[in-house]
Amino acid sequence: MTTPSAERGQWSSRVGFILAAAGSAIGLGNIWRFPYITGQNGGAAFVVIYLLCVVLICLPYLLAELVLGRHTQKNPVGAIRLLRPGSPWIGVGVLCVLTGVGILSYYAVIAGWTFGYIFKNLLFAHLDFGHFVASPWIVVPLFAVFLGLTMWVVFGGVEQGIERWSKVLMPLLVLLMAVLIVRSVTLPGAEKGLAFYLKPDFSKVTPGVVMAALGQAFFSLSLGMGAMITYGSYLSRREDVVASGAYVALFDTLVALMAGFMIFPAVFATGHDPASGPRLVFVVLPEIFQTLPLGGLLGALFFLLLSIAALTSTISLLEVVVAYFVDERRWSRKRSVWVVGVLTFLIGLPSALSQGTVEGLTRMDWLVGEEGFLGQHDFLSIMDALWGNLALALGALLLSVFIGWVWGAEKAAQELQQGSQISPGLLRIWQVFIRYICPVVILIILVNVLRGYLG
Ligand code: PHE
Repeated sequence: MTTPSAERGQWSSRVGFILAAAGSAIGLGNIWRFPYITGQNGGAAFVVIYLLCVVLICLPYLLAELVLGRHTQKNPVGAIRLLRPGSPWIGVGVLCVLTGVGILSYYAVIAGWTFGYIFKNLLFAHLDFGHFVASPWIVVPLFAVFLGLTMWVVFGGVEQGIERWSKVLMPLLVLLMAVLIVRSVTLPGAEKGLAFYLKPDFSKVTPGVVMAALGQAFFSLSLGMGAMITYGSYLSRREDVVASGAYVALFDTLVALMAGFMIFPAVFATGHDPASGPRLVFVVLPEIFQTLPLGGLLGALFFLLLSIAALTSTISLLEVVVAYFVDERRWSRKRSVWVVGVLTFLIGLPSALSQGTVEGLTRMDWLVGEEGFLGQHDFLSIMDALWGNLALALGALLLSVFIGWVWGAEKAAQELQQGSQISPGLLRIWQVFIRYICPVVILIILVNVLRGYLG
């Protein structure tokens, strides 16, 4: 998709770009991952740190990825190669591609659960999550179906159609979330959940909590692995990157915050443990639906919409990897999609089997010790911590150094200014962020976590 400019597509409008970028950003990260990570990291204090990360680190960094993409009109590896041919910086592009595969491998497993829940809500309401997720003949085919769906879209290039659909369906998802929030906060015992979510207790904050918040912010906004470089590469010079980027960050954050209001009151009202990990929303949501009229139907609709939100995210993950093989290795699109898809399936299998099917994957203490890897014990959560957290932060650190220092903050700022109303003062502040604040803060957090981990 990143061949010479005449053949490259471009977003037909600013709305088209915002929809695609928001489609990549909004997904399981907001509705599945945000509540589970918030629950594991103590609640409100984590949320405050998360919001700080979004505004102070991720927003400036998002603009940097977008302008790098728009300026070079290329995928992450191609963009770096164009600006610094033959340099070791190309390794950062390769890290992006690896991270794409790493995240997609387990993300599609969760997306498979989501997809399966459409039918489970209607047909097998009694089947409990523990059994569902530990049944390999259920979860593996679902994983394969979801990955296949993603491959089909990326191969056929029908993203356009999907975007048009999302325009209608995503507002519907948000509406349904609003209904669930009203139900959740009016359940008896909901106050405890609201307190957990809204009353910060900063004494619980450790380097691990800060790392989790930063990682979640990158994950949720699809940052640190080049998705936004790739999407930015389809933007025209006339577009206002600053305003578009700000909208994407705003929508994404609002949906995540809503997910918290939907889940936490119900978690406490139904007596669940907020720290129960990746299964949290899958256990709690059906209980909310049970208390609603036509709950089975509403539940099915909700998981259908969530599956579509997940699909617009897996498309962007696969697209980065496929674009690399097509542009840089001159593979055909078909071959790239097949090879990457099959490989991702194999890498994802242990994740699919790590929720009770295979004991050695469900509790990996034999490998990561009793403390776990960043507190995680099962294969899927460890992959999530490794790729969805650490690798994204590392990628963002290296890319902000590349953009701020190697390509140069002035050149990046010039590109940012094109088509935008941003004032010269703000533009200067942005340069300070991309050169100093982003890399230094990310580095400090990473070093602290690794020190705690190694020492
Ligand atoms: N942002 C997506 C979500 O929240 C996940 C994602 C991460 C997509 C990184 C692309 C790159 O679901």
